[in-house]
Amino acid sequence: MEKLLQQIQSLIKEIELFETNDTQAVEAFRIKYLGTKGVVKELMGEMKNVAMERKKEFGQILNEFKQIAESKYETIKLKTIEAVTISDSRIDLSLPGDPMPLGSRHPISLMKNKIITIFQRLGFAVAEGPEIEDDWHNFTALNLPAHHPARDMQDTFYVQQNPDWLLRTHTSNTQIREMQKNKPPIRVICPGRVYRNETISARSHCFFHQVEGLYIDEHVSFADLKQTLYFFAKEMYGQDVKIRFRPSYFPFTEPSAEMDISCTLCNSAGCSVCKKTGWLEILGCGMVHPHVLENCGIDSNKYTGFAFGMGVERPALLKYGINDIRLFSENDVRFLKQFTSAI
Ligand code: PHE
Repeated sequence: MEKLLQQIQSLIKEIELFETNDTQAVEAFRIKYLGTKGVVKELMGEMKNVAMERKKEFGQILNEFKQIAESKYETIKLKTIEAVTISDSRIDLSLPGDPMPLGSRHPISLMKNKIITIFQRLGFAVAEGPEIEDDWHNFTALNLPAHHPARDMQDTFYVQQNPDWLLRTHTSNTQIREMQKNKPPIRVICPGRVYRNETISARSHCFFHQVEGLYIDEHVSFADLKQTLYFFAKEMYGQDVKIRFRPSYFPFTEPSAEMDISCTLCNSAGCSVCKKTGWLEILGCGMVHPHVLENCGIDSNKYTGFAFGMGVERPALLKYGINDIRLFSENDVRFLKQFTSAI
C-alpha cells in the first residue's frame, strides 16, 4: 500500500509538470492516464490487493488522483484549442494594410459645385427637378405653345409610350415648378442634366449639364440681373475678366441677352477656341416674360424677375484644357482621377 501511495505521489508530480500545446500530446496524455487501459484504471485494479481496513482511504486518494488527471487534461486541451485558433486565423500584424484607393469628384461635379457656391453666397437656394418631364413644364409654361417655331431650337427626345413626356431640354422646368410651389420672393438655382437630340461629337453631346437661375420679387430690374452676373463672372473667371451683353432672343425672357467674357485662353488676342473673336459666350439670360409668371400663378403687375442659364461642360473644357466633351461620360478612371479641384 505504501509503495502504491508513493507511486501515486510521483505520478501527481509528473502530471503537474506536464505542459504541451500540441493536440497529439494532449490525446496521448488522455490515453496514458484516463484511457481504458490507462494509469487510473490500472490503479483501480490494485484495489483488490489493498488491505480491507485501508480500502476506503485508498479509494479516496485514487479519486483525488483521477480528478487531478482529469482537470489537467481539460486545461491542456483548452490551451491547445486556443493556440490552434490563433495560429489558424493567421493574423500577421506586421503586414501592411489593404490599400483603399480614394475616389475623386467628377470634373463636371467640381465645376457645377463651384458655380453653385458662388450663387449660394448671393442667397440663392438649390432646387432640383425631374429629368423626365411633361410638355407643359418644359415648353408650354415657358411661353412656347405647341407648334411655336422656337421649339425647334432644342431638338427634343420624346418618350415613345406617351408623346406628352420628354427628356427635359433645359433645367427651366425646375424654375416653373419652383414658381408654382412658392410665392415670391423666389431665389433659386437649378443644376442638373439635360438632353437634346444632337449628333455626338467632340464639341456636342446628346446630354449635358446646366445651371439655371431665377430671381422673382417686387422691383427686380435688368440692373439686378447684370450686377448678379458680373459678380458671378468675376468670381468664376477672375477679377480682370471683361464682360459684355449682347441682345438675344428666348421665348421665356423679354428682353433677352447673351453674356460673353473675354477669352481666358488667349487674353482676347483671338484663338481657335474663341474663333478669333476674343470673346466666349457663357450664358443666356433675360427678364422673365410676363406670360411665364402668369402661367405659374404669379401676378406680373406686381412682380418681375430675371433668369439665366449656362452649360457646365463648356467652362469645364476651358478650365481643364480638355478638347473632347465625350471624355466626360466615358468613365475612364485614368481620365477622371486627374481632377481634384475646380479652383
Ligand atoms: N433655358 C435656356 C437654354 O437652355 C437658357 C436660359 C435660361 C436663357 C434662362 C435665358 C434665361 O438654352
